[in-house]
Amino acid sequence: MTGRDARTAAGRASGAVRFPADFRWGTATSAFQVEGSTAADGRGESIWDRFCRVPGAVENGDTGDEACDFYARFQHSADDLDLMARLGTGAHRFSLAWPRIVPEGTGRVEPRGIAHYDRFVDGLLDRGIKPLVTLYHWDLPQPLQDRGGWRARETAEAFAEYAAVCFEAFGDRVEDWVTVNEPWIAGLLGHQLGLHAPGERDLRGSVEAMHHLLLAHGLAVTALRASRHGSAARAGIAYSLFPHQPADPSSAADRAAAHASDGYVNRWFLEPVHGRGYPADMRRHWEDAAGELDFVRDGDEERIAAGSDFIGVNYYTRRVVSAAAGPEDGPWPWKVEPGRAGVPRTDLGWEIVPGELTALLLRLHEEYPGVPLTVTENGGVFDDVPGPDGAVHDERRVRFLHDHLLAVHRALEAGAPVEGYYHWSLIDNFEWAMGYRPRFGLVHLDRGSGRRTVKDSGLWYARAARSGEVPA
Ligand code: NOJ
Repeated sequence: MTGRDARTAAGRASGAVRFPADFRWGTATSAFQVEGSTAADGRGESIWDRFCRVPGAVENGDTGDEACDFYARFQHSADDLDLMARLGTGAHRFSLAWPRIVPEGTGRVEPRGIAHYDRFVDGLLDRGIKPLVTLYHWDLPQPLQDRGGWRARETAEAFAEYAAVCFEAFGDRVEDWVTVNEPWIAGLLGHQLGLHAPGERDLRGSVEAMHHLLLAHGLAVTALRASRHGSAARAGIAYSLFPHQPADPSSAADRAAAHASDGYVNRWFLEPVHGRGYPADMRRHWEDAAGELDFVRDGDEERIAAGSDFIGVNYYTRRVVSAAAGPEDGPWPWKVEPGRAGVPRTDLGWEIVPGELTALLLRLHEEYPGVPLTVTENGGVFDDVPGPDGAVHDERRVRFLHDHLLAVHRALEAGAPVEGYYHWSLIDNFEWAMGYRPRFGLVHLDRGSGRRTVKDSGLWYARAARSGEVPA
């Protein structure tokens, strides 16, 4: 075994599986979901600030004004960083709020925003926690939305400008960057179904937005390569990847439907980023449904393929798909079924199928050989509440974590180059249109008092991260 093999080999200790010594055990958050202080220190308005004020848009009228109060607390205390240090996870994924750094979307840079994240990055590094920094996690500056938002090409160009500011400011300490988070979900929920900011319902607008999000990735990677820290840095997208299952595996029509829907959700994003252009089958579906994609300019597919140093996998559940076209699924030749009977589910009703994560990682390894993989998000909602002893005994999340980490380990054993796992989320937070109701955290947040309580799952994850082992 060479030194590298010994470092990265996934092994089995007695009664436990052992992860490679350099495996990254992480937690994940995003700016709008945890920071609060939406008007502090010159931060500009974002589309989520605006959307939260539309009556009925967010459950319970919840907003991000306070969230987990990460921003304000960090002005006088490093408690939240100490909490991460206590968990012993050596990596943390978080996002920069574009409106804190470039409040108008383009032009003037806000030094107080830069100063905040400077200290935050330093605080992580001081505690031995490696940052994975997301540039865009859905909080677009409102002034850009006023000029068309992601439907406008100008937004992708503005993003590259903002990305260059971030590379310059933090690139001496941050090596790993996620350019955009979940371009499919951003396009689908924000522009097609109107369920997320900016609340648009326009099929063509959604594919246009997704195209500009991918273009934004490509232009940002080009800016990264040109920056003075470019040679040490790596960038990728955090995709929302959903494995697909035909409702009836023996039906050729259902199998074809599953493949087609995979084109819509997964291949539409992975293939162009990796230099294969938009997949022809899905391009036909889009053109039938939304007209000619004439906003895809000559050279755009090359621009999108400027580089991807890793594939970020946000994995939550799968899609079970049949060929029976249903009106609720839009103009597509497939229908998303409610899943299968007897499969355990989270409290949001999402099927818990860790085996699909192994299969997904192996598929990516096979289709994109040599490209490192990182699970940039995985987690579940379990309606856990503190017990009379003040502790949160969230056994179902412990099981969820255990089973998904074993699934990652199986992929490692089969040769997939998985570099790390970032649990969503560090702490209960603002779950977009569902407000604060769903709890995804390893740490319980009492919103009234701001009190943080590490759940049993957090304690369990800390043991796994420290030992590098998970009970088999
Ligand atoms: C994906 C998104 O990136 C994140 O913001 C969200 O909270 C989780 N999924 C859970 O839905």
